[in-house]
Amino acid sequence: MTLEIVLYIHLLAATVWIGGSIFLFTLGIFLRDKEAQERVYYYIGPLYGYMESVWLTILIGTGLWMFYHLAIDNVLAHWTPESLAYAMTIKLILVALITIFTIVHMYIALKTHGRERTKMEKLLSRSSSMAIFLLNLIIIWFAMQVRGAL
Ligand code: HEM
Repeated sequence: MTLEIVLYIHLLAATVWIGGSIFLFTLGIFLRDKEAQERVYYYIGPLYGYMESVWLTILIGTGLWMFYHLAIDNVLAHWTPESLAYAMTIKLILVALITIFTIVHMYIALKTHGRERTKMEKLLSRSSSMAIFLLNLIIIWFAMQVRGAL
């Protein structure tokens, strides 16, 4: 029962985390009016950032709980293609990359809130958000492989 509750929270967190990133990414592409975009990001940016970091923390916390509860650490050495170890290792690498890109993205967002960004800041902010978006799409695949291999 406890595992089911933790998995439920993990899935809820994954839904909010990935859903939020897809929504904001879509907004960046389709809201072409620069002024409207700046206003939207000015108001929802910090709220979105704090909310998403809370859900990412919950995602990692519940994931680690299941990882040790299911004793996945014991099988990580048995690394063969299509094994649980393989899917879990790739998933953990993706989680590490997503976390790093999220920190970079948030750092720039907080540093430049309410002011014009330099070219480098724009490039870093856009590329990190693109990377988070793509890695989120890939991580769902490996999350499915982990669950399937359990
Ligand atoms: C961005 C971070 C993460 C995302 C988006 C994510 C997403 C998911 C999703 C969607 C599932 C359900 C898959 C399915 O039902 O087919 C899942 C399951 C699982 N995740 Fe994660 N996860 C993340 C981080 C982690 C971390 C950091 C760990 C471990 C250290 C972890 C361990 C697990 C385990 C063990 C399961 C399977 C649990 C079970 O079936 O009983 N996850 N994850």
